[in-house]
Amino acid sequence: MEQAKRGKMAIIKIQNLNKSYFISDKGVKILNDLNLEVDENEIVSVEGSSGVGKSTLLNIIGSMDDYDSGLVEVCGVDLAKISNNEKEKFRAEKISFIFQHHLLLPDFSALENVMIPLLINKMNPNKAKDEAKEMLARVGLKDRISSFPSQLSGGESARVGVARALVARKKLILADEPTGNLDRENSKNLMSLIVELQKEFQFSIILVTHDMELASLAKKRNKMVSGKLQAIEVATV
Ligand SMILES: Nc1ncnc2c1ncn2[C@@H]1O[C@H](COP(=O)(O)OP(=O)(O)O)[C@@H](O)[C@H]1O
Ligand SMILES: [Mg+2]
Repeated sequence: MEQAKRGKMAIIKIQNLNKSYFISDKGVKILNDLNLEVDENEIVSVEGSSGVGKSTLLNIIGSMDDYDSGLVEVCGVDLAKISNNEKEKFRAEKISFIFQHHLLLPDFSALENVMIPLLINKMNPNKAKDEAKEMLARVGLKDRISSFPSQLSGGESARVGVARALVARKKLILADEPTGNLDRENSKNLMSLIVELQKEFQFSIILVTHDMELASLAKKRNKMVSGKLQAIEVATV
């Protein structure tokens, strides 16, 4: 009902999420009755100090980590109700990650790195190559497709990471401090690229960051405090 009224579908619905880690045999509560809703085609930030649980939340949404209680529904799937095998399939079909350290495979070229998500989804290799080439050109790396990660600068590696995340045209992108490793100029380039591509491909993206400039790209900003998300008021212009 709510969704119909707003005319948008929730791509993430999290209610009363709790997660503790056992550290030296003592349970430490990281997420405490946390709630979050993300709509289709929306940029959302999760900000907050180091160690508050931002990556933990992202890993749970990406079905990479378990949780203790609460509802976590992502792309219409209740993550508590699917097996580990189903989670793998779910990730391959629905979610892409952008990491601070890019995590490119060192023995594969930029082109091969970007092809991997398509090959995992069983796309024909020639088609995968064409699509990966096109996406690398889109992020400004037309001339670097044969380069290996060790031959790329930090800014270029970050753009390969973005191309790899977007090539399969999934509807949900989870970005964990994507500018964390870059200087100002490369951060700015990466930010405008993310904004342009989000408009073009219309995905939802969660930006986990303590980079205020990156966070300000989000229409819906949140700060993580004491295991919960607090909405940050965004001035509308
Ligand atoms: N696998 C783990 N085992 C135990 N503690 C963990 C684990 N992963 C993260 N933590 C702890 O949980 C807290 C939140 O971590 P994290 O989500 O990485 O924070 P952030 O991304 O906000 O910096 C930290 O105190 C961290 O040490
Ligand atoms: Mg983190």
